[in-house]
Amino acid sequence: MKSKNIGILGSGVVGKVLAGGFLKYGHRVMIGTRDVSKLAQWKEQAGEKGQVGSFADTAAFGDIIVLAVNGTASKAALELAGAGNLEGKTIIDASNPIAEAEPVNGVLKFFSDINYSLMEQLQAAFPGAHFVKAFNSIGNSFMINPDFGGIKPTMFICGNDGDAKKEVAEITEMFGFEVEDMGAVEAARAIEPLCMLWCIPGFREKRWAHAFKLLKL
Ligand SMILES: NC(=O)c1ccc[n+]([C@@H]2O[C@H](COP(=O)([O-])OP(=O)(O)OC[C@H]3O[C@@H](n4cnc5c(N)ncnc54)[C@H](OP(=O)(O)O)[C@@H]3O)[C@@H](O)[C@H]2O)c1
Repeated sequence: MKSKNIGILGSGVVGKVLAGGFLKYGHRVMIGTRDVSKLAQWKEQAGEKGQVGSFADTAAFGDIIVLAVNGTASKAALELAGAGNLEGKTIIDASNPIAEAEPVNGVLKFFSDINYSLMEQLQAAFPGAHFVKAFNSIGNSFMINPDFGGIKPTMFICGNDGDAKKEVAEITEMFGFEVEDMGAVEAARAIEPLCMLWCIPGFREKRWAHAFKLLKL
C-alpha cells in the first residue's frame, strides 16, 4: 500500500498498537486524544512519522481513520473529530459496545442491541463516512503480524462501501491476517459479539492467547 496518513482516534493500548503497525509499514500516523500530554512518551519513541493531536486534528490529518476508543465514547469521540473531517473517509472501527458492568461468568455485557450494532449506530450518525468493522475481536497483542505457528488468523470485516473494505482488507493482510468480508454494516451485529467470545477464556481461565480462524472447504 502507498504511504498514507493514518489518523488514529484513541490513545489506549489498541490505538498505540495499531499506530505501531502502521509506522512499521512506513505510514505516517497521528494519534488523537483529548489530552496530548499523556502521549509525550509515545511521541518521543515514534520518531518523525508519529504525531499527536486533538481528535479533530487527527481526523483532518488522516486519509484513513482508525476508531479505537472506548465503545461508550465512540460517538462522542467522532463528534469531537468532526463530521466534516470524516466525510468520504474509510474508518476502521475496532471499537466494541462493552457496557460499564462486570462480566457474568466471563461474558461481557453490551449496551447495543443484537439487532442494532454499535457500528450501525455510528454509520447512521455519520452517513458520509465509510465504516468498516475490523480488529475488534482480536487481543491487542495479536493485532500486528501474530505468530500462530504459520497459521493466519481470520479477520472478519463488514461495511457498506466496497472500496473502503478493499482498503481495510489490504491493511489487515499486511498485518498478517486472512480476510473474510461478511457483507454490509448489519454484519457488525455478528462481528461485534465475537469480542465477547474471544474474552471468555480470558476472564474464566486467564487464557488470552488465541485468535479466530474460519475453516473452509
Ligand atoms: N484492549 C484490547 O485488546 C481490544 C481488542 C479489540 C478491540 N478493543 C476495543 O478497542 C477500543 C479501544 O480499547 P483500548 O483498550 O485501547 O482503550 P479504551 O480505554 O477502551 O479507550 C481509550 C480511549 O477512549 C477515549 N475516551 C474515553 N472516554 C471518552 C469520552 N467521554 N469522550 C471521548 N473519548 C473518550 C480516550 O480518550 P482520551 O485519549 O482523550 O483519554 C481514549 O483515547 C475499545 O472499544 C475496545 O473494546 C480492545
